[in-house]
Formats: sequence, C-alpha cells, structure tokens
Amino acid sequence: MSLFCNAAALLLKPTRAVPAMLSAARRAGTGGQYDYILVDKRGEKRNVGFIQLNRPRVLNALCFGLMWEVARALGDFQVDGDVGAVVITGGERAFAAGADIKEMQNRTFQESYGGNFLAHWNAVSAVRKPVIAAVNGLALGGGCELAMMCDIIYAGEKAQFGQPEILLGTIPGAGGTQRLTRAVGKSLAMEMVLTGDQIDARQAERSGLVSKVFPVDQVVAEAIKCGEKIAGNSKLVSAMAKEAVNAAYELALAEGNRLERRMFHATFATEDCKEGMAAFVQKRKAVFQDK
Ligand code: CAA
Repeated sequence: MSLFCNAAALLLKPTRAVPAMLSAARRAGTGGQYDYILVDKRGEKRNVGFIQLNRPRVLNALCFGLMWEVARALGDFQVDGDVGAVVITGGERAFAAGADIKEMQNRTFQESYGGNFLAHWNAVSAVRKPVIAAVNGLALGGGCELAMMCDIIYAGEKAQFGQPEILLGTIPGAGGTQRLTRAVGKSLAMEMVLTGDQIDARQAERSGLVSKVFPVDQVVAEAIKCGEKIAGNSKLVSAMAKEAVNAAYELALAEGNRLERRMFHATFATEDCKEGMAAFVQKRKAVFQDK
C-alpha cells in the first residue's frame, strides 16, 4: 500500500458497525488489482493517470470499496514521477449516480458520526496533482460531489448534474452544499439542493460548474489532451498553482493574495522557472525537470 493510501487509512475510524465495508476495503487494498475501477496511464507519453469508475450495472454508485480504490489509485499516481495529471471518468450513461444508497439505507447516526462516514472521500481533494473530471451522463449526489472535488470538469453534451439527496430525506454529505454554492452561486445551488432538480451540461457550463462541453464521444479524449498539456509543464510549479487557486476557496482576498505572492516568489527558487524564462528568451520550447 502506498504512503498516500496509509494516509487515507488514517482518515477512517473503524467501528464495529461497518465490518462489511471494511472487508471490502481490505479486499480492495491488496495487490495491484481493482474491483470497482479501471486504472491506466494515457496520453502519448503515458503521463496522464486514468481512472474509470466501473460499476455500470448500478450507474457507478459510489460504494465504500470504490471510493477506497479511487483513493488508492490517486495515491499511486501522486507518487508516480511520470504522471503530471489525472483524469477521472465514468461511463456514457453515468459518471456516477451518487453514494451507494443500498449500502447507506440501514446506517445509524452512531455509525455515521462515530466512523466519520465519507471521510475517505477527502482523498480526492487532497491529491496535489491536477485532477480532471470527464463527465458523461448522470453526475448525481456523490457523483456531482466527486466531479466537484476535481480541479477541472469537462462535460459531454448529455451530462446532467444534480444533488437529489433531499428526495431521499438527507442532504449532500461530500461537499455538495459547499462546492456547488461556490461554483454556481447561492440561488441555483439552493434550488438544486432543495428541489433535487438537475441541470444539463450547457447550464452547468453557463453557471461555471464545468469549463467546457464536448460531444459525448470526445469528452474523455479532450480531458486526456488537457491532462497532457498540464503534464508537459513543471509538476512542481503546477502543484503550487493548484494550491494557490484552491486557497481562493478558503482564504480572505488579502490573505489569498499574500499566499499567492509568496508562492510566486518561491517559484524563483526552482530550476524550472529558470528554464521556462530562459526558453522564452532563447525562443525555444521549455524542457521542465520538475525541480
Ligand atoms: N445507489 C445504489 N444503487 C443505485 C444508485 C445509487 N445511488 N443509483 C442507481 N442505482 C441502481 C438501481 O438501484 C438499479 O439497480 P437494480 O437494477 O439492481 O435495481 C440500477 O442502478 C439502475 O438504476 P434505475 O433502475 O433506477 O435506473 P433509472 O434509469 O430508472 O433511473 C436514476 C436512474 C434516476 C439515476 C435513479 O437510479 C436514481 O434516482 N438513482 C439515485 C440517485 C440519487 O439519489 N443519488 C444520490 C445518492 S445519496 C448521496 O450521494 C449522498 C452524498 O452526498 C454522498
């Protein structure tokens, strides 16, 4: 198991109430094989990590074992020096239709609070390499939240986004009320969270939830292209850029600007910054060494 996976494991506080989930996690955590996802490296230089959610029969419902495997794959990509970006996708019908309702239906408050249910999902937003969600079909509940944990969302023309938890008598539990509100503003987020209504890809694009919309059969290829573009830059400096943009979600403007300025200063300590500027002056393409 990777260091990152151990870090993810630390987030889990096992209770006696979740033995089935933990045995699924143990199964998923052994060996290089995955039960619920397909993992690969894509792009001409195989420098884009690729994760495909693979429970099509249940519309990629995000069971405990699946999200554990996603955390493990991301952890492995995080320490893979060749990988500069990661793409997460689902299938044509569904990116993911949410957390696994059948797995949740008998949960108690005590198990959920005591075991810090869904804490292991944080692994997605904790990864320091840029992550792109390529969304076709349904991204509902936890599926929409998983996409929003990624850094960039590309959508296929038939994608649908929604937070229908209210229809189950619950609320989003993996950042939906927070990330959706920051992405699309209060009124639309409230409407989606309070009614369970979905928005389509074009509305998601207009409201800032996704950055680009593509024909269904092109969205994954375009996400990989974007990943290759990112992977061609300095991985070290990309991590700094990601950290700085994410700070905009958490800090007041003055603090965020100060952090950005200090990180900008810090890039001058890297060889990649020297290389990038020298390449510009010498009118050639920069070759970054991630140093
Ligand atoms: N969990 C578990 N199983 C699910 C699922 C989910 N979230 N979504 C779909 N499935 C399963 C269905 O049970 C069904 O399996 P069976 O054939 O074994 O019955 C299979 O996937 C196909 O689904 P449907 O037959 O329902 O397909 P449909 O085309 O008629 O409807 C749908 C599609 C509208 C997406 C419907 O499946 C649906 O409403 N799914 C639930 C969506 C939802 O409420 N998501 C939020 C979950 S809660 C959450 O995510 C909390 C959080 O914040 C983390």
